[in-house]
Amino acid sequence: MYVCICNNVTERDIEDAVRSGARSLECLERRLAVSTCCGQCRCFADDVLREALGSLEREEPTLALAS
Ligand code: FES
Repeated sequence: MYVCICNNVTERDIEDAVRSGARSLECLERRLAVSTCCGQCRCFADDVLREALGSLEREEPTLALAS
């Protein structure tokens, strides 16, 4: 599902970014440009980020703590 239409960012893109080290919305903005245009996706992007971090913490607790 698309999170950010302006920049073609999907939930999968955010999940992949979290698996490769993204730990904040600001980091996702730099890596994926999510929420850097109209900003309407910011809350949803943050929700997806938190969910991805929660999943990572359950799967790989040591990775989730590294930033
Ligand atoms: S929908 Fe993400 S910046 Fe517009």
